[in-house]
Amino acid sequence: MSETILILGASGQIGNELTQELRSIYGNSSVIASDIKEGNEEMMSSGPFEIIDATDKETILKMVKKYKVSQVYLLAAMLSATAEKFPQKAWDLNMSSLLGVLELAKDKHIKQVYWPSSIAVFGPTTPKENTPQKTIIEPSTVYGISKLSGEFWCNYYHEKYGVDVRSLRYPGVISWKVKPGGGTTDYAVDIYFKAVEEGNYECFVSKETRLPMMYMNDAVAATIQLMQAKPEDVKIRTSYNLAAMDFTPEEMAVEIRKHIPNFKVSYKPDSRQEIADSWPSSIDDSEARKDWNWQHKFNLTSMTSDILKNIQN
Ligand code: SER
Repeated sequence: MSETILILGASGQIGNELTQELRSIYGNSSVIASDIKEGNEEMMSSGPFEIIDATDKETILKMVKKYKVSQVYLLAAMLSATAEKFPQKAWDLNMSSLLGVLELAKDKHIKQVYWPSSIAVFGPTTPKENTPQKTIIEPSTVYGISKLSGEFWCNYYHEKYGVDVRSLRYPGVISWKVKPGGGTTDYAVDIYFKAVEEGNYECFVSKETRLPMMYMNDAVAATIQLMQAKPEDVKIRTSYNLAAMDFTPEEMAVEIRKHIPNFKVSYKPDSRQEIADSWPSSIDDSEARKDWNWQHKFNLTSMTSDILKNIQN
């Protein structure tokens, strides 16, 4: 399968690793990374990179023509905690970037679009455990509102204009190569770095806060698997529930202590606690498993070993 891919938001937490994986599958020169800031050295040296503001539709179109792009992965977004501080800016970035790309697909400049949604679409009234695909969805954060609206825009462009847009509701994504910024689930990344570097961590959500999570390797695999699925197998065009594991910070600490026995965690919940409390504690992703055969690989134990090994190196 030959594709030319443009990644918007390639320097971010997910964009970085997705870019490298796509480059290894489709060839370095076929995957154009872009962001408003440069990426790390690996990204800059392994293939084409352009500075692009994801809300600048005209520049995106210029790049689509320049490289003959067939697929766009739109990963630029303002995450949940930052979005609460800058609601208008978050809405503008998260929505205008999506609408611009959907328009380009509608006008047949690109064939396929990937856009991530999030567990943040769910809100305090959603059933918390094993949250189903279709349920009460009343988000209480700006980020959640933008993702929910985006999901229905995707579905609308698919239904009305036949746009092949695909989406996943990521749980908290945990990685060690590039840190996330401004999200509520960031503690699940920070905790590993602090464990290795300082032997203790002050966590900004309470010890019993349980959230759905996923290792980056699985998030990248799911994304590419969904994009490679046959169009007729992609039955949900809002966004698919996606899951791998769920745990509390205290359960993470127990796993980390198997490697770093003296690791200590203290808890000082801040405004992000309320956001975390509004989200599900676990997700039912049976539709993804049924429609395009999604299977996760990593659980808390295997992820923890892998991350600590890599950070310690
Ligand atoms: N990890 C994201 C956040 O915390 C959720 O999509 O904002």
